Amino acid sequence: MIIEAPPIPAPVQPSRPTPPPRPPATWVPIRSLAARHRDRILSHLLELPAHDRYLRFGFAASDAQMAEYVQRLDFDRDEVLGIFNRRLRLLAMAHLAYLAPEPGQAEHRAEFGVSVAANARGRGYGSRLFDLAVLHARNRGVRTLLIYALRENTPMLRIAHNAGAQVVREGSEAQAVLKLPADSMASHVEQLVETNAAEWDYRLKLQARRIERLRQTLLQIGAQTDAPQDPPS
Ligand SMILES: CC(C)(COP(=O)(O)OP(=O)(O)OC[C@H]1O[C@@H](n2cnc3c(N)ncnc32)[C@H](O)[C@@H]1OP(=O)(O)O)[C@@H](O)C(=O)NCCC(=O)NCCS
Repeated sequence: MIIEAPPIPAPVQPSRPTPPPRPPATWVPIRSLAARHRDRILSHLLELPAHDRYLRFGFAASDAQMAEYVQRLDFDRDEVLGIFNRRLRLLAMAHLAYLAPEPGQAEHRAEFGVSVAANARGRGYGSRLFDLAVLHARNRGVRTLLIYALRENTPMLRIAHNAGAQVVREGSEAQAVLKLPADSMASHVEQLVETNAAEWDYRLKLQARRIERLRQTLLQIGAQTDAPQDPPS
């Protein structure tokens, strides 16, 4: 008698934990800031608590020191990038400072500094500002981007590490060095598209704010007109 062998069950694959899906990346409008934005930049910086000021500048900058920093920003030489909310409050800003080449070195370098309002963290704004700063720097011929951060500054060092920067830690400080590729037609087009789209976004927000102010004024006028008038004496 021939006994058929029972079918061999397929090997059971060990179940692997699947990582939670990342939220889809949404476009964040980032605008180049100019001298007329100094007040908004200062308001943003003054909102940073003492520890964030320490992380941003390497020391607990006072209000007066930050006012001086904002006053000294050179918008012709450097680039300052910002993210606004619907009410045109500056939520985040990055300063890309172009450095003079060191004696005997022809290579162009720039330094990156950034701050995100405490209530707007973890949304990818810091990373987005970094990516756009890299694009601007590339297109200006920069080959080395420097980031100075305190060793404890995990989010900043993650941003630099994710971009492929070499991070050197010394004592309580860290220096990240990111080598940038040369610019290309695509990198210039990308910057142009980003700049124009962010400009349109800003104008729409500005327009919406004006309309809202007009609406409030009309409502106030309406309320005054409806108020009962005093009888003539
Ligand atoms: C550093 C700073 C700009 C980051 O801004 P952000 O918008 O919160 O950063 P992102 O949301 O883009 O997150 C950047 C990375 O850090 C990680 N991260 C964010 N917050 C974190 C936290 N509290 N602990 C550990 N990792 C954190 C994110 O997961 C992300 O890494 P991933 O892309 O690998 O997941 C912000 O914390 C800040 O303004 N700090 C004060 C000023 C400062 O330190 N400036 C930098 C020195 S110039």
